Amino acid sequence: MNYKLMNLKVFGDERGKLVSLEGNLSVPFDIKRVYYIFDTVPDQERGKHAHKELEQIIVAMDGACQFVLDDGKSREEVWLNRPDVALYIGKNMWREMRHFSYGCKLMVLASKHYDEKEYIRDYNKFLESLQNK
Ligand code: TYD
Repeated sequence: MNYKLMNLKVFGDERGKLVSLEGNLSVPFDIKRVYYIFDTVPDQERGKHAHKELEQIIVAMDGACQFVLDDGKSREEVWLNRPDVALYIGKNMWREMRHFSYGCKLMVLASKHYDEKEYIRDYNKFLESLQNK
């Protein structure tokens, strides 16, 4: 499984808390893109794709959702529900997101600019792509 949950270093004092993410340091790639998801609703699923080369770090800044992670051999479920834990997803991983809390805010750091050609949106094509690895 090419994913891991990362406990982030928190700088906290009586004023509140702060987490810093730096490309090629705490984030294991050069950050090329940041996007975020908000205004989510519980009965809607997202994702359902894999990336050929893209790596991502995902943090639930607020609220919660469940990731289903699939490497073509097995599936695992991971909850993201706190801003001091990041989910790293490497290449060739099918992901689905579901069970969003209302107004969950997901921040995503990505290793590449957006490129629809880099997506695999069909699960059978994802499995076929793994045969050639
Ligand atoms: P989509 O891939 O459906 O989101 P999710 O992975 O959460 O299911 O993306 C929604 C729309 O946003 C789709 O039209 C593509 C567009 N988009 C961009 O233009 N740039 C981006 O960086 C991303 C992630 C999506």
